[in-house]
Amino acid sequence: MGGVLSRGGAVSAEDREFAYSAADFEQVRSLLYQRAGISLAASKASMVYSRLARRLRALRLTSFRQYFAYLHEHEDELEQFTNALTTNLTSFFREEHHFPMLAAHLQRLYREQRRPLRIWCTASSTGEEPYSLAMTAVEAFDCSTPPVTILASDIDTKVLAHAAAGIYELERLSGLDEQRKRRFFLRGRGSHEGQARVKDELRQLLQFRQINLLAPDWPVKGGLDAIFCRNVMIYFDRPTQLQLLGRLMPLLQPEGLFFAGHSESFGHAGHLVKLIGRTVYRHAGVAP
Ligand SMILES: C[S@@+](CC[C@H](N)C(=O)[O-])C[C@H]1O[C@@H](n2cnc3c(N)ncnc32)[C@H](O)[C@@H]1O
Repeated sequence: MGGVLSRGGAVSAEDREFAYSAADFEQVRSLLYQRAGISLAASKASMVYSRLARRLRALRLTSFRQYFAYLHEHEDELEQFTNALTTNLTSFFREEHHFPMLAAHLQRLYREQRRPLRIWCTASSTGEEPYSLAMTAVEAFDCSTPPVTILASDIDTKVLAHAAAGIYELERLSGLDEQRKRRFFLRGRGSHEGQARVKDELRQLLQFRQINLLAPDWPVKGGLDAIFCRNVMIYFDRPTQLQLLGRLMPLLQPEGLFFAGHSESFGHAGHLVKLIGRTVYRHAGVAP
């Protein structure tokens, strides 16, 4: 059974420490889909094995079957299960074209409406994305206390803790220009040599919360001015994407902007959203 799973994977079936069958993979797939909405491709069998093998080792279990029984009895393990299987790739100012557009949007709204502005970053991973939003806000208003607050959330509690700590290896900052590095980061010394910490000026604009986009309720008030939901919809199937868009769009102000990832397009949701820039949307039916 395991032989089928070993094709193209990092750990061959013979070298595996734990028995892992096609049925085990299917069970992981279905659990992850139920819990996080993530649709795993059949090609991910080996990845699933290596990521969950760490959990089995940590819990001193000897088979995937035992792990499923453990999950059944210990609901809190579901958090580790999900953390192990999410893909958290991100970077500062990823998909850079979105940020000048956001800056102009915030400036215009504030000029016209003079009220606090709110952004929800729905899959914030290790924090590079919400801190990039905060840097954009500080720069757009040329002020360390811009009228902007950012809710940064993710389903994965481990990446969320990293984001809240705001500490990064210096190479993660390599794409930032010197001015941004100096203005927004403190270089670590001693045991933090080789790292940098985000300054409080940015952190004070952010609030971090664990939110599963699949949960029936979100602790988020409507009237948002922008939603960043980038590079997470790709893990969901079309019905889930449509359902989410149908819940997220009503949380936006009529002129609010919805930012999607580079490979996420919502041509199938023309009744909900209208494309107004490169992977940027607004409510369908609202005049530009
Ligand atoms: C590839 S990262 C994208 C990070 C960032 N948005 C970006 O574009 O750079 C995808 C993130 O989505 C999160 N995620 C996956 N399923 C989720 C769900 N059901 N609810 C909330 N976040 C989820 C993962 O934990 C991960 O941190």
